[in-house]
Amino acid sequence: MLFSLKVKGYKALMSALKILGKIIPIPKPTLFTGPGSSLELCAAIAQMGPQKILLVTDTVLVKIGLLDNIKKTLDQKGIEYIIYDGIKPDPTYEQVEEGCRLLHENNCEAILAVGGGSPIDAAKVISAIAKNKKSIKKLAGWFKIRTACLPLYVIPTTAGTGSEVTFAAVVSDPVTHKKTPLIDPKIVPIMAALDGTLMTGIPSTITAETGMDALTHAIEAYISVNASTETDRYALAATRLIMENLPKVVANGQDLEARQNMAMASCYAGMAFTKASLGYVHAISHNFGAYYHTPHGRGNAIALPYILDYSKDAVIDRLAQLATASGLQKNNLTNQQLAQKLIDHIRSLLQKFNIPEQLEELKKEDISAIAKAALKEAHLNYPVPKYMDQAACEKLLYKMIA
Ligand SMILES: NC(=O)c1ccc[n+]([C@@H]2O[C@H](COP(=O)([O-])OP(=O)(O)OC[C@H]3O[C@@H](n4cnc5c(N)ncnc54)[C@H](O)[C@@H]3O)[C@@H](O)[C@H]2O)c1
Ligand SMILES: [Fe+2]
Repeated sequence: MLFSLKVKGYKALMSALKILGKIIPIPKPTLFTGPGSSLELCAAIAQMGPQKILLVTDTVLVKIGLLDNIKKTLDQKGIEYIIYDGIKPDPTYEQVEEGCRLLHENNCEAILAVGGGSPIDAAKVISAIAKNKKSIKKLAGWFKIRTACLPLYVIPTTAGTGSEVTFAAVVSDPVTHKKTPLIDPKIVPIMAALDGTLMTGIPSTITAETGMDALTHAIEAYISVNASTETDRYALAATRLIMENLPKVVANGQDLEARQNMAMASCYAGMAFTKASLGYVHAISHNFGAYYHTPHGRGNAIALPYILDYSKDAVIDRLAQLATASGLQKNNLTNQQLAQKLIDHIRSLLQKFNIPEQLEELKKEDISAIAKAALKEAHLNYPVPKYMDQAACEKLLYKMIA
């Protein structure tokens, strides 16, 4: 009884967010796409006029030489850059603060992020702090950013988070284990390049896990109560591309055409979820990340089939449409059969990609706290199609113990 009353409140909050989403326009970055587009973006930055920029990235990418051509182009265009490669997966407050210090000390006029979701999210927060002069805690939450951020350009190197087009950034508080989201249209980058050539060297595990993140964005956006005709178009296009190209890039990372398709798919999925939002899979995965440093995509991949099993009866038709977009409609299957086929297909993909069905690190004694934190995140932010209470969430999490 008490829970059904609470659900009424959550639904009202999600309706309010939907209305707010219609009133507040979400900007779209200018996109450069195709092999070599990262260098076109560098040329475009030169035309925008900054003399000096902060290049936010991570050490792995510097070490493997992924930035070499980008640096060469910036040199040719006469743009001075300060490299900050201190971002690690699931960036922390300290890493962001160090970036702010470098930006300030060197009087950088813009930021270029090159990397996966971690450097991009960190760069988004640095660009917000640079102009708003407030701490991360003060900027965290919905619509807390008052002043336009420092110009931000991004080159994603995973496909992936879709962070290049979303109005969210996630940073971690290392003391409380909490992942802090900043959600505001002002943090959307002004330009982004989707360049598959930067992705051909991604190891297959990271390829599979980041690809499952993109698939989760598309599916959670499609079954969201706040989905619209526009977000549906992006979510279905992303699903189609991911189902066709993810197995190809996991099997052969050098397949440039499939890599480029995955870069596009990840971006489309980002377009879908930035408006339609996410669901329980992300709420659980964020907490796996906070407790055990589980890579974001792996956490999503593990939780996804369990949440779809749970939500299925509320979204049979939507799952059937996703199954059809995935090429699974054969012999006139009913929507019920198609929905199940999609979930089975996701499980078979996990097997193919060597992603376990359970989370090795998940401990019984953490389940109650993880469920509580995940439900709080989901119920205050995500328009899920079927609500669950603490007991139901704990029951699902128990199934995820290895
Ligand atoms: N802002 C959003 O909308 C949004 C959405 C989903 C996830 N996220 C956040 O994004 C982060 C995860 O990002 P991610 O999954 O892209 O991974 P990541 O940025 O954390 O990178 C994971 C690993 O992949 C390596 N890597 C990246 N690109 C590579 C390449 N081209 N070749 C070889 N190695 C490469 C990195 O060096 C790193 O070791 C999490 O913090 C998550 O919370 C943000
Ligand atoms: Fe994600």
